[in-house]
Amino acid sequence: MFETFFNECYSKRNPNARLFHELLESTSRVVNLVEYKDTHHSDRVALNCLRLARKVGISDQYTLAQVYFAGLLHDIGEIGIPDNLIYKKGKLSEEEFQALTTHTAIGQQIASQVPVLSQAAQLILWHHEKWDGTGYPEGLTMDETPMLAQVVSLCDAFDNIRRGGLFSKPEDWDKELVRFAGIQFNPSLVRPLIDLTKEGLADDTERSPEDDEVLNAMERQRDVIEQLRENYVGIIVNFLLTLLEAKHKDSALHSKRVARLCHRMGQQMKLSEQELQALVIAGNLHDIGKVGIPNSILDKPGLLDDQEYREVQKHPQYASTILKPLSGFEEVNEAVLYHHERWDGCGYPEGLKGEDIPLLARILHLCDLADALIHLKPVPEHRATDKVRYVIEDGFGSYFDPDLSRFFEADASEPEDAGDSL
Ligand SMILES: [Fe+2]
Ligand SMILES: [Fe+2]
Ligand SMILES: [Fe+2]
Repeated sequence: MFETFFNECYSKRNPNARLFHELLESTSRVVNLVEYKDTHHSDRVALNCLRLARKVGISDQYTLAQVYFAGLLHDIGEIGIPDNLIYKKGKLSEEEFQALTTHTAIGQQIASQVPVLSQAAQLILWHHEKWDGTGYPEGLTMDETPMLAQVVSLCDAFDNIRRGGLFSKPEDWDKELVRFAGIQFNPSLVRPLIDLTKEGLADDTERSPEDDEVLNAMERQRDVIEQLRENYVGIIVNFLLTLLEAKHKDSALHSKRVARLCHRMGQQMKLSEQELQALVIAGNLHDIGKVGIPNSILDKPGLLDDQEYREVQKHPQYASTILKPLSGFEEVNEAVLYHHERWDGCGYPEGLKGEDIPLLARILHLCDLADALIHLKPVPEHRATDKVRYVIEDGFGSYFDPDLSRFFEADASEPEDAGDSL
């Protein structure tokens, strides 16, 4: 998938790109964007998982990298759960609790889009199992839960205790861990974690050279790199789209449709295969920054107030933050960052004007709005084509590059599947 793009933008232009590290950095940025109220919890859990696993004798670098990623992504499945439920103080109703428990399976599904993280995905599924069998999703007891999933569970709870989120007294963290050993946690993991903390390691949030070596080793592992090179761009697009779908299904569906419109228009314009693929990738990912916007705003019925609107307007920059570490994605990133710029300079984020706006961004802007017009309720489907023709044609020269008008078809029907566009 997206082979021409990969060959051109990675194999030729960036042959020494560190694919695993790019993926890691982009993922870490996604996690930190999603955790807008709870900064760096997952970063700390990831590091502590790695260190605790090492402390109890795991030395295989591949396995250590898996537990690191499991820590980093353990709560990514919370992305679609309403904020007021995640941060609710006090007791949850049965229904609320059930909704919350789905985050383990959703997280597993998101992580499993990246084949080299398949073991991490499995650990994410079990990070709420408890030693006494009262956890979820499967109610596994004791060593029925793999030891590395127990590590994630303990490091997650530990970070919550230390920050006072779970129990009342953060300073009693070691007593709390001991109290729940054999109930919630594997008792043989508790002492090593207490020792790590007393050595100061559990509070050290920077990766040490030894920690880095685990991730560097992944970069040297042949099967890992082969797996990544085989379908790197497809993996990233799938991973980010699955994430967006979990956050806000309509945005993901919209993105896939925009990618297909982009493909059709790019073909009409006879773009090169590499440009065409970049445009389709940008279509798929243009709204990925919405993972950083609260659902209460994305789903608000009616008009947004000024502050909410300003919040939504941050999504191109958020997307750009996520895509930045991917060295081959430069022109995709540019198209995504500027997909709300207008030909007359009245768009955002920078108010670029005319040909200062990159061509792919101009095409994307047009396809984005066309799809929004077609699918924005409450326009009846049969009137959508008229509405698109009317509004879009009026917009050439103000919203849109007038040169693009001859390539645009105001056709509300779904374009053919664009093959590579997912
Ligand atoms: Fe969790
Ligand atoms: Fe957008
Ligand atoms: Fe959009």
